[in-house]
Amino acid sequence: MKGYPSWFLRALLCTLLLVLVSGCLLAPTTLVMRMDLALPWRLPGDARVLTAAAHAAVGFAVMTMLGSLWSVHMRAGWRRRRHRVSGAIVGALLVLLAASAVAVYYLGDERLALIAALTHLGIGLLLVLPFTWHWLAGRRSRHRHASLHAVGGQHDAPSRRHAGGRGA
Ligand code: HEM
Ligand code: HEM
Repeated sequence: MKGYPSWFLRALLCTLLLVLVSGCLLAPTTLVMRMDLALPWRLPGDARVLTAAAHAAVGFAVMTMLGSLWSVHMRAGWRRRRHRVSGAIVGALLVLLAASAVAVYYLGDERLALIAALTHLGIGLLLVLPFTWHWLAGRRSRHRHASLHAVGGQHDAPSRRHAGGRGA
């Protein structure tokens, strides 16, 4: 990922994975408590609170990363007209996740809170698809560019030699 420290991509992938896993761990409680579904397993009380706290904290970290992606990665990709659709979908879904998380936190009305929680969970699961699409497409194009540069480098070699000859 151009313009970012070498650890950034790994940190982004780990953070997104953590928010997804902790969200999936919270999901059975959401279905049992908010929809009265009878499920064989859900997180017990204390573990639920800990997981929800970890989930919210990692969610905030994802948002700081989205901010840094906005200032360089998204704008550069947008200007070059590359992977706009998948990138914009991923960005928009992340914003909707943050918005629905605020609704999960603060809506007092039970019905609205249920809608917010299910919307949040649905968007969270849905995000996997466009993100995987964007990630793999982005990775492929990065490798393609890298190999084009390598081929370009070989073509450049004679002119560098030429330049060297001129200087000698
Ligand atoms: C308007 C929105 C976006 C655009 C136009 C865009 C564009 C691009 C482009 C052109 C690439 C190819 C490689 C590169 O230039 O780094 C790429 C790769 C990638 N993008 Fe985006 N992107 C957007 C949003 C996002 C968002 C929101 C995320 C994550 C939350 C993201 C994560 C990635 C990842 C993980 C890669 C693969 C990088 C790699 O393997 O080196 N992008 N994107
Ligand atoms: C960047 C993305 C995300 C942010 C900022 C975020 C934030 C939050 C916050 C603040 C809560 C409230 C915690 C609590 O109950 O005390 C929450 C709850 C939850 N989140 Fe996320 N989340 C994100 C992604 C996800 C994903 C990817 C999933 C699903 C796979 C998910 C599933 C859930 C579930 C099931 C709950 C419990 C809802 C309820 O109270 O019934 N979240 N999230």
